[in-house]
Amino acid sequence: SSVTIPPPACMLRPLEAPLRYLFGPGPSNVPPRILAVGAKPIIGHLHPEMYEIMNDIKRGIQYAFQTENNMTISMSGSGHAAMECAVFNTVEPGESVLVAVNGIWGERVAEIAERMGANVHRMVKTPGGYFSNKEIEQHKPVLFFLTHGESSAGLCHPVDGIGDICRKHNCLFLVDTVASLGAAPIFMDKQNIDILYTGSQKALNAPPGTAPISFNERACHKMFNRKTKPVSYLFDMTHLSNYWGCDGKPARLYHHTGPVSGFFALRESLAILAERGLEESWKKHKEVAAYLYRGLEDLGLKLFIPERDLRLPSVTTIAIPDGYEWRELLAYIMKHHQMEMTGGLGPSIGMVMRIGLMGYNCEKTNADMALNALADALKNCKKSKA
Ligand code: GLV
Repeated sequence: SSVTIPPPACMLRPLEAPLRYLFGPGPSNVPPRILAVGAKPIIGHLHPEMYEIMNDIKRGIQYAFQTENNMTISMSGSGHAAMECAVFNTVEPGESVLVAVNGIWGERVAEIAERMGANVHRMVKTPGGYFSNKEIEQHKPVLFFLTHGESSAGLCHPVDGIGDICRKHNCLFLVDTVASLGAAPIFMDKQNIDILYTGSQKALNAPPGTAPISFNERACHKMFNRKTKPVSYLFDMTHLSNYWGCDGKPARLYHHTGPVSGFFALRESLAILAERGLEESWKKHKEVAAYLYRGLEDLGLKLFIPERDLRLPSVTTIAIPDGYEWRELLAYIMKHHQMEMTGGLGPSIGMVMRIGLMGYNCEKTNADMALNALADALKNCKKSKA
């Protein structure tokens, strides 16, 4: 028997991946040092050297999250994998979940929790809005979700005091730091955050595809005393905790094949953060963001989040300037400057344009390049008739 479907012509051409300035909300450019470890020879995912690398990753995450939690691992998957892992393991069907929705990420979590049969209550604000601790206290869920770095709106939500409220009401506090980790301070243990996760591809500058997550004792107690099994086998923490050597058992058993090169890259990105120091990284993001704000204001642009203290240092949102078509501005910048900036996401579409300067990309010289590209686009994109 012979094949009837011929090899596709596209497969006979070499892969093309142009060099771009990734100044959007992520993924961000990956420094050569991280790219290099990603190209190292593969080892078996159950070899002792791999366990050592995974143990190192665990320590690196504990530092980045400022936690001593034993149950600290990386998902084999993007930030969404961590989001689903958190919800699937700590919530059972019929339990109630409270979600702060002030951009896209709360919407996503609400939908994920609904799909697994939770009773979801959404607290909704327009993009960029934030919640007072008093508002949060009015509800009695088993899990409360808040986005620390709301990348769709460019908001960095205050976290202090919320963990204490959750504790008082026997509720777990789940925080998403995908867009903020390494760029804005977060202290998992001190802020009484029960579950915290992030992604590899933002300020950590690793390729997309791995996602650190940590559970404290309270979260472990809830998730390991369930009546039902979590809906996902791949994301079941009973198995993942064993795979990551967190369950105290002598042997790690096969569960799934982790992304070996992705873990090499994640380890390197956490090593860079450890060498640089968290305080230094937070300071740098704040300084470069402040420099960018000044430049944007000098161009006559308006920042979307008026309160400076609430702005996310990694992703800056600009109100779409009057008389311009945002898609045209972004397409111009991509075409003439090989630079990615993006529009809004979810509820912020049509409201904002976004510039991300994260980790390796967080430099004043890059802010200058982004400002120069924007100035050029503003000059050359004709005003719409509106
Ligand atoms: C994705 O993470 C985004 O904020 O666009």
